[in-house]
Amino acid sequence: MAVAEKQPVTGAGPFNGLLTWVDQRFPLVQLWREHLAEYYAPKNFNFWYYFGSLALLVLVLQIVTGILLTMHYKPDAAQAFASVEYIMRDVPGGWLIRYMHSTGASAFFIVVYLHMFRGLMYGSYRKPRELIWIFGMLIYLSLMAEAFFGYLLPWGQMSYWGAQVIVNLFDAIPLIGPDLALWIRGDYVVSDATLNRFFSFHVIAIPLVLLGLVAAHIMALHEVGSNNPDGVEIKKNLDPKTGHPVDGIPFHPYYTVKDTLGAVVFLIVFCVIMFFMPEFGGYFLEYNNYIPADPLKTPPHIAPVWYFTPYYSILRATTENFMWVLAAGLIAYSAMVIAAVKINAVRIAVVVIAALLLVGFFTLDPKVWGVVLMGAAVLIFFGLPWLDQSPVRSIRYKGWLVKGALALFVVAFFILGYLGTQTVTEGRTLMAQVCTLIYFVFFLLMPWYTRMDKTRPEPARVTWQGAH
Ligand code: HEM
Repeated sequence: MAVAEKQPVTGAGPFNGLLTWVDQRFPLVQLWREHLAEYYAPKNFNFWYYFGSLALLVLVLQIVTGILLTMHYKPDAAQAFASVEYIMRDVPGGWLIRYMHSTGASAFFIVVYLHMFRGLMYGSYRKPRELIWIFGMLIYLSLMAEAFFGYLLPWGQMSYWGAQVIVNLFDAIPLIGPDLALWIRGDYVVSDATLNRFFSFHVIAIPLVLLGLVAAHIMALHEVGSNNPDGVEIKKNLDPKTGHPVDGIPFHPYYTVKDTLGAVVFLIVFCVIMFFMPEFGGYFLEYNNYIPADPLKTPPHIAPVWYFTPYYSILRATTENFMWVLAAGLIAYSAMVIAAVKINAVRIAVVVIAALLLVGFFTLDPKVWGVVLMGAAVLIFFGLPWLDQSPVRSIRYKGWLVKGALALFVVAFFILGYLGTQTVTEGRTLMAQVCTLIYFVFFLLMPWYTRMDKTRPEPARVTWQGAH
């Protein structure tokens, strides 16, 4: 039936016939229209809107280079390190593929962090885009897992001891910890069994999850439409004649061209790093990882790769003394929540949870709470759509209170990141503790300060030079 009903495709030149044949069997033209030629995106996208398409580009780059690396890599504790050296020295073009993949890993996090920061600035997580944000956060978690599993594969000293430290964190979980750590490693120490399972997660399990999540992320985005730097909903203002948003332009060709420019500039920077400084001062490829893994020799200073270091700092900041600060913070915060909510059942729940946590603070090892805080630091981003109560979406119309809070958060995030690469001293621990507090206060007090903030009214239309 469908074959007879569909109109022939026109405008594709010599391919009209072929396209008609395909289109009568698969919704190719419909997909092209819905997601590109007739997907109306706000016309005021700026620099910050490059990073979604760049994340897609890096994803493809990582998958292609990963497939090529897998052709020569050996997931075997006795051969893994040598097989990477073999790729670097003997496989034709192997060094290029490996450096593309290692630079790509850091590039992925840079691009994704900037992409997330855009979301924070323009309130892109707010209604109706909560699910785009949630899928994004799930992508971020998967990306962290992907990087963690991948880092063991070269089987260098940092690979080995980094994995040892992180898996041992699970050991701290009460009751199930030791069994869980054993289950993850598949052995009593990180070993060949661990390498094999990490390899399988890195090359197939997590990439499949990532691809599925990215598809869901973009489907959710195209369902509700993109936000923009003004935070104005363009679908509210449709052209009565065409039915399209007056502040929208078709994604293709306008943004395909813009994103191509972004991709070219990105690839130039990427090539400069890859060809001239692939180790990037030990941040992209750590120097200690050029030493083969030695289970009998712990390196004096173990630090994760830069993209994990803010969280690693939070973990290390959770000392015995810090538990008192956390306890005081918890009591003050519970009092604020109890004063703010009207429902008695919620108030009772807050008291019970706070009391249980307080007991836990002083009975369990602070190491456990370090792991909890580290996990909470990542997971708390999920709550943003509900924590932000500002009447406006974009930072452009928010007041100094919210702008100041965001600036302070970014500074704290950077300092935590830096401290995570350094050895521990008393002064650095204190600094990390202050930044950890700023980090959590930014999220936990958001419902209050976003309401108190003096905002400006959002414009009715997007602001764009030469628009309207
Ligand atoms: C593999 C990683 C990712 C890919 C390939 C990806 C891809 C994209 C693309 C292509 C867009 C549309 C273009 C743009 O707005 O820049 C987008 C939008 C968006 N992404 Fe992602 N994304 C990724 C990770 C994330 C993460 C980790 C988050 C947040 C936790 C996130 C949150 C968002 C949000 C909120 C939007 C809507 C932005 C707006 O309309 O203003 N994404 N993403």
